[in-house]
Parts: sequence; structure tokens; C-alpha cells
Amino acid sequence: MFTTDEIQKLDKITHKYDRKQAALLPVLHCVQEKDGLITPQAEKDVAEYLGIPVVHVHEVVCFYHLLHQKKPGKCHFSVCQTTACALRGAEDIIGYIRQKLNISPGETTPDGKFSLEAVECLGACEIAPMMQCNNEYKGFLDKKTIDALIEGNS
Ligand code: FES
Repeated sequence: MFTTDEIQKLDKITHKYDRKQAALLPVLHCVQEKDGLITPQAEKDVAEYLGIPVVHVHEVVCFYHLLHQKKPGKCHFSVCQTTACALRGAEDIIGYIRQKLNISPGETTPDGKFSLEAVECLGACEIAPMMQCNNEYKGFLDKKTIDALIEGNS
């Protein structure tokens, strides 16, 4: 159940749309800002707030890699594994991160600092191999770049 303040915040978003339901993605991003993830309860709350089936909210949460069902690490590596990045070494990059942090895609380090995810094309094929690190794109990845990112966020 959203608080009055939370509803006011969501109302500011939905008022920009002709239909309240069309604001599903921005509403989910807003809800995720609070705890870093979308819980099953948050899915129900969003569905109730927007007047749509909870299964529809759940489908959207499952589809978009920027929406998290599990709390990501403070530094979340979303490494692209699609064709352009795959051809330019994405698998090696993922393997190197796995080895450095001792986590697999879908996992978070025990200290909560890092998480890793293998994702589909992020639309930045020209800088392959690339990843999204929180809200920033990092391209032309190599082991040196990964080392610097890990050191800078440790
Ligand atoms: S294939 Fe990696 S960004 Fe497009």
C-alpha cells in the first residue's frame, strides 16, 4: 500500500499521460527508486494504483532488465551478450567479471557492492563490447576497464 506522499509523487507522473495506465514504466521506475527493486507487493500496489491486472505489471517487470526483482549490487554490471558484443568478446568480459568477483550472472557479491547480469542488445553496438554500469554506458570493454571499474567502486 502506497503512502499518501508516494501517491502524490505517482500522481505527478501519471498526470502527464492521457491514460493513467500508459505511465506504467515511469511509475515502476519511481517505485524502484525507493528500495532498488520491485517486490511482489509493489507489483500489486502498482496494479491497484493504475487499475490494471497484476499479471500485466509482473510481465513488464520480468521483461525489462532495468527493473529488478532482486536487489542489485551498488554497482550493477549489465553486460550485453548480443551479436555485435558477442563477436567482440562479451563472453570473455563476462568470464573475467565472474572470475574477479566470484559471481555468476544473476548474482550479487556477499558485500552487496557488485552484481552481474548478461543482457540483450542495449542499442550501443558501435562501442561493443559494452555494458551498462548503473545508469552509464561503458564501451570498448577490456580487462583493464573492468579492473578500473571494480577498483573504483570497491
Ligand atoms: S549487440 Fe551489444 S549493444 Fe548491441
